[in-house]
Amino acid sequence: MVKLGTDIQPRNYQGRTLSMRKANPAGPIYPDPCPNMPVERGPSDAGVGAWVPARKHKLIHDYLTASRHAWSKWPSRVFIDPFAGPGRIQVKGESLTREGGAVVAWRALAESAPFTRMIVGDLNPDRVAACEQRLEALGAMVTSFVGPAEETIDQMVASTPKGSLCMAYVDPYNLSLLSFSMLQKLAALKKVDLAINFSTMDLQRNADLELDATRARFDEVAPGWRSQQFAKSASKKNLSLDFFRYWYELVKGLDFKFSKELALVSNDQGNEIYRIAFFARHDFPIGLWDDVAKEPNRSFDFDR
Ligand SMILES: C[S@@+](CC[C@H](N)C(=O)[O-])C[C@H]1O[C@@H](n2cnc3c(N)ncnc32)[C@H](O)[C@@H]1O
Repeated sequence: MVKLGTDIQPRNYQGRTLSMRKANPAGPIYPDPCPNMPVERGPSDAGVGAWVPARKHKLIHDYLTASRHAWSKWPSRVFIDPFAGPGRIQVKGESLTREGGAVVAWRALAESAPFTRMIVGDLNPDRVAACEQRLEALGAMVTSFVGPAEETIDQMVASTPKGSLCMAYVDPYNLSLLSFSMLQKLAALKKVDLAINFSTMDLQRNADLELDATRARFDEVAPGWRSQQFAKSASKKNLSLDFFRYWYELVKGLDFKFSKELALVSNDQGNEIYRIAFFARHDFPIGLWDDVAKEPNRSFDFDR
């Protein structure tokens, strides 16, 4: 069993160890329909890690294609992406660009059960415009919002047609942006799957610092965590793990089932940076996620 922050090496999808640079990333590279529009190159603008297409986007793609028959039974199919970026990425060290998360998601179902609406948002208006145009160039019906996800989420939920099957992909740069109230609002949708990129690196580096009430960057992520027994006890040995478990329980409490396959995302140096947490309302999507995210012997140990 693997615990938070104990990753060793990047893996490919059969579980063999290999260098991420040699890994086969998320499928074919399609030309950019909007080559003059902005591209996501990560928070420092140096290019995103190879793990973004190879792990993060591949999982979204694989889950959606695995669930395509289920999607095809629903007349209204909605993808919700409150941290969408511009819909195009550039990996560090590559001269070409690749499709971003929302575009990968669109393409995954385009042939079988295309999303009837793509709802995208970002703090940056140029990125929102780029994402919208790239999706529209592929034939998607797009609704877009500019602003902090915590605020745009209300409009996103309100513009989701009633009775839709939805997938929300929540992909902030750091943990402090993963506000629990945003997840609560998404949970108002009856049929929604949540794929959430949870920055375990941010948590591990900063959990003890965020106990300080003058910082408290994680208070919106897991309300009430600082008053839990695990946060008050003298030993802070398991603080990150206990925080994570507490957060998981909060999300489960929104009437979700969850996957134990907390997909591990490591950076190019092999250090754990994210876990992709998946929640759904039924066993069937959980089973599909388990299958696509599974890596031998690497399920998260909830029963420690
Ligand atoms: C990790 S990137 C998104 C990558 C994209 N989801 C993908 O898979 O291609 C995070 C995005 O969040 C945006 N952002 C930063 N703070 C935000 C906030 N408070 N609300 C919404 N978007 C925000 C950034 O501009 C950036 O485009």
